This record gives sequence, C-alpha cells and structure tokens, in this order.
Amino acid sequence: MDSKCLLAMLLWCVLLQLKPTVEAQKLELIYHNGTLLKGSFTVNILWYGNFTQIQRSIIVDFVNSLNSATWSQAPSVKSWWKTTEEYKGGSTTLSVGKQIMEPYSLGKHINEKQLYGLASRFKDVRAINLVLTAKDVAVDSFCSGRCGTHNSIDGKIPYVWVGNSETQCPGQCAWPFHKPIFGPQTPPLVAPNGDVGVDGMIINIATLLAGTVTNPFNGGYYQGPPTLPLEAVSACAGIFGRGAFPGYPGKVLVDRATGASYNAQGRNDRKFLLPAMWDPATFQCKPLV
Ligand SMILES: *[C@@H]1O[C@H](CO)[C@@H](O)[C@H](O)[C@H]1NC(C)=O
Ligand SMILES: *[C@@H]1O[C@H](CO)[C@@H](O)[C@H](O)[C@H]1NC(C)=O
Repeated sequence: MDSKCLLAMLLWCVLLQLKPTVEAQKLELIYHNGTLLKGSFTVNILWYGNFTQIQRSIIVDFVNSLNSATWSQAPSVKSWWKTTEEYKGGSTTLSVGKQIMEPYSLGKHINEKQLYGLASRFKDVRAINLVLTAKDVAVDSFCSGRCGTHNSIDGKIPYVWVGNSETQCPGQCAWPFHKPIFGPQTPPLVAPNGDVGVDGMIINIATLLAGTVTNPFNGGYYQGPPTLPLEAVSACAGIFGRGAFPGYPGKVLVDRATGASYNAQGRNDRKFLLPAMWDPATFQCKPLV
C-alpha cells in the first residue's frame, strides 16, 4: 500500500469520526429584541474598480435569484434564502436596484471612512447598498481577518462591502475554490461560474446579505459580542454540504459537464455554491443539499 492510499484511508477515518459530531452540533443565535429587515428592499450596487460585464452579470443574477419567481428548480437559491423567514417570521424580498460604475476615483487603497462614503452614494430608503471592490483594490483589514463587512449609514440604511480576493487572498476569501492558507489541504473545488474571485465573492455576499437582514443594526440575531458577532451564516462558516469539517466543505453537487461544484441554482441557468445557514427552527446549520 503506498502512502497516498494510506493517507486516503486515514482521511476517510477522520471523516467518519467527525461526521456525526459536526451534524449533531447545536447552536443558538440569540435575538436581541431589535429590528430585522422584512418586506421588500432593493439592493443598490456600487462597482469600485474594474469588473467585467460577465462578472457583473454573475453577481446581479445571484442577487436576483434570491427571490426569483421564474427560477425555483431545486436546489434553488430561493430555497436557501427562504430560511431567513424563520427569523421572527415574515419574508424579505431583495432585488437589484440602481448600479454605479465607479472608476478608481479614490485610488487603489480604500479605508473604512471611504467605504462609508461610497456606500452613502445611494439615497434610497428601503435599500441595502452593496459596495464591491475589484481584485486590485486593497481595503483596510481586507484579507487580514475579513473578506467583507456589513454596517449601516447612521443606523438607518444598511450597507455591505465585499472585495474580490482573487489576487490578494483567495485561500482565505475564496475557499473552497482555492487551497486554504492553513489547515488540512483538500483539493480545491472547481468554481461554478469559472471565476474563483467572483464565485468567492458570491459566498461572502450571501453571508453578509443574510447577516444584514437578520441583524441589520446589531439588535437582531447573533451570538457573541456585538462587535464581532456570529450571524445567520457566519456562525456556520466553512459548511457547504453534509459531513463538513474544518478543511472539508462537505458533500455538494458536481456538474458532470464542467466538473464545477455547486449546491444552488438560479436565474439564467446559473449555479452557485452557498454556505449553510443557521435554521432557528432546528438550531442547526442547514446546508442546502
Ligand atoms: C428582550 O426583551 C425581553 C423582555 O423585555 C428581555 O427579558 C430580554 O432580556 C431582552 N433580550 C435581549 C437579548 O436584550
Ligand atoms: C480597467 O479596465 C480598462 C479596460 O479594460 C483598462 O484600460 C484599464 O487600464 C483598467 N484600469 C486599471 C486601473 O486596471
């Protein structure tokens, strides 16, 4: 028996042992008596720096798939989003609103205050402002502990920022499409839209939109300190399918034609890989497949 074979057996044993404990894990996010976002909201997008038209369409299709009436083929992005209804009842409908294409007007290093300024460029109410930074833009703390963030303008209009990590830290912010920086090395998965950076952004946008609607102003659902909360999806970090354990995303679907991994389908025949969301009905992180 060669060493590869031994290693495979060892990994398999680890997997078998970890599987039941991971799935049985119970988790409680506490509701802090504040506002959640319920009803209809538009998602305004500010593109900072260069994004190709294809990259933009992948992200717009994803956001519009969250409530798409025209696409509900299982497993769907829409059914993933539906779990947010379990949080204090009632649904949240999101769809893409205005878009701004912003060239490199502030240069290639953005700080927190500038991020706030970019998010404040939209003046609509009942909106979530989404600021997306291109792969060649550095943002304060990007890659050193965060892949994006959500916050609000004057405690009123929520905003989300996510960066494209492709050239800066794909092992951290585009895992499992790139090998991780630390820990067990399972082979990277093939990104469902063929773009490691953008498919990684989808994971973070999904995480932060769910965190925004269930904890928009720090009075919603979370565990831990309000400055470093574990929210609807961030509490389930690293879990994409059943049997996940640190370094292994879990069992997901594979597209026979392209080899791409996915677990959710959306508009325009797109496929996405979405992280598990905590389900208040069962107190567990629920992967879609
Ligand atoms: C929510 O409100 C209830 C009733 O006023 C109170 O007992 C509880 O401690 C509050 N929970 C939090 C997390 O603030
Ligand atoms: C952005 O893309 C355009 C068109 O492809 C290119 O000319 C320009 O140099 C790019 N800007 C930067 C800062 O990379």
